[in-house]
Amino acid sequence: MGEKTSSRCCCCSWFIGIIVLIAVVLAIVFTIRHNKANKHPDDGGDITVPGSVDKNYADALKIAMQFFDIQKSGKLENNKVTWRGDSGLKDGSEAGLDLSKGLYDAGDHMKFGFPMAFTATLLSWSILEYGHHMDSVHQLDPAKDSLKWITDFLIHAHPSANVLYIQVGDPETDHKCWDRPETMSEKRTLTKIDTETPGTEVAAETAAAMAAASLVFKQSDPKYSSTLLKHAKELFGFADNHRGSYSVNIPEVQSYYNSTGYGDELLWAASWLYHATEDKTYLDFVSKNGEEFANFGSPSWFSWDNKLPGTQILLSRLTFFKQGLSGSKGLQGYKETAEAVMCGLIPSSPTATSSRTEGGLIWVAEWNALQQPVSSAFLATLYSDYMLTSGTEKLSCGDTSFKPSDLRKFARSQADYMLGKNPEKMSYLVGYGDKYPEFVHHRGASIPADANTGCKDGFKWLSSEEPNPNVAYGALVGGPFLNETFIDARNNSMQNEPSTYNSALVVGLLSSLVTTSSSLKSFK
Ligand SMILES: *[C@@H]1O[C@H](CO)[C@@H](O)[C@H](O)[C@H]1NC(C)=O
Ligand SMILES: *[C@@H]1O[C@H](CO)[C@@H](O)[C@H](O)[C@H]1NC(C)=O
Ligand SMILES: *[C@@H]1O[C@H](CO)[C@@H](O)[C@H](O)[C@H]1NC(C)=O
Repeated sequence: MGEKTSSRCCCCSWFIGIIVLIAVVLAIVFTIRHNKANKHPDDGGDITVPGSVDKNYADALKIAMQFFDIQKSGKLENNKVTWRGDSGLKDGSEAGLDLSKGLYDAGDHMKFGFPMAFTATLLSWSILEYGHHMDSVHQLDPAKDSLKWITDFLIHAHPSANVLYIQVGDPETDHKCWDRPETMSEKRTLTKIDTETPGTEVAAETAAAMAAASLVFKQSDPKYSSTLLKHAKELFGFADNHRGSYSVNIPEVQSYYNSTGYGDELLWAASWLYHATEDKTYLDFVSKNGEEFANFGSPSWFSWDNKLPGTQILLSRLTFFKQGLSGSKGLQGYKETAEAVMCGLIPSSPTATSSRTEGGLIWVAEWNALQQPVSSAFLATLYSDYMLTSGTEKLSCGDTSFKPSDLRKFARSQADYMLGKNPEKMSYLVGYGDKYPEFVHHRGASIPADANTGCKDGFKWLSSEEPNPNVAYGALVGGPFLNETFIDARNNSMQNEPSTYNSALVVGLLSSLVTTSSSLKSFK
């Protein structure tokens, strides 16, 4: 017994020694990690503190990602959507170009370059910041694959420095049919911009998309990445040197994606080009042109038409993380306006926007109502993660200050509303949850894959009272009225039509929230 005790005592001291040693090692590891987490992402230190996966957001992200596959034009590869097949194979042929790839914009078969490029810029941004979150739920490869499906198209659409094809299909002709993309017979008219008919906003958005995507593919496909960057630089030059609005020069586009100005796209493109190249010329551009184009001090809503809030947040990234730029005078207006945007979103802020439904959803427009809440929520998580990663504890809004967690809480509230926490108890993300729109305004989803209807007789599927035979997984429909009601009817394109840029915004938002971690990836 005595011996036992003494031997135990001997073990005891060994144990204590080992435990102390372990504690010391843990403390060291923890300190290193902690320092690493405070390091800014562009210092090259990738931060890999894993968070736990939120299962609901992970499920939603997997669903959201599928919409890009549903929208693919061209000869499909590894197609998993049973009701989709090859289509648009001859797109571009009238100009001797292969414009078969790319994504159909929404419920129709139009390939609109302006919102398609924006979709690519958003997808790139999401991958650049949250690719490691996507990877933890196996969504990084699908995201890169969908992005490349667009950038392959954009490369072909830009055959020489000052020529860009911006549209495949004529909406007037296209909308006279209700057919599947696989069997469409309507003429696929091409629209382009060039030095005689410039279109600064679409050239600049395409430059932004290609610059951002060049960063995405920098490691995995350096050759492709430098091709993208070359196009991006040329397109920015074209956009800047031949200024003119595409909406003014090609008035027909006004009925669909009417641009209210190109200054925001120029700043956005220059910001992305600076991130992609670190060439100071682009930074000088945003500093010099801010007064004219950036509308400093006035918060606005991020959308396919307005890139200012995105630019403000993206440039804040530099003031948060980039050595030598934290006090940059040329970036100050952007940072301050980014703060104003954030302050507007937090419901208890003294400068909170009143554009909300009773249930708390940001609500700005009747058409595609979900665009602004989802885009705002994406920017809010980004900003909160910039704050956390840089060790910035508070955001001052008037006389009140807020924490990064207040922004994240706002972002979650918008995501949760969209996924079913709303008076209709409906998920506006098709395929998610028990109740979601069944009459989505989407030709391919509404027509059985084996139907033999064509352009005109296909309209019977639009007016059919049966739910869509095919589920458009990942479609984010337009969303509710201000009074939070929603009409699930196929002809209700205002509320019930999805779009690729909506899905890109949702993918960004869900990727940011899918793990509890707030870590960001380096852009390099
Ligand atoms: C398109 O936008 C311009 C600039 O804001 C505006 O003047 C014009 O009326 C708009 N066109 C349509 C059809 O809404
Ligand atoms: C909700 O708003 C829409 C659009 O303004 C309106 O048509 C509808 O009647 C309203 N519904 C209710 C229940 O108030
Ligand atoms: C959709 O169709 C229904 C039933 O035919 C009709 O009452 C409604 O006005 C239509 N809505 C739109 C937006 O065209």
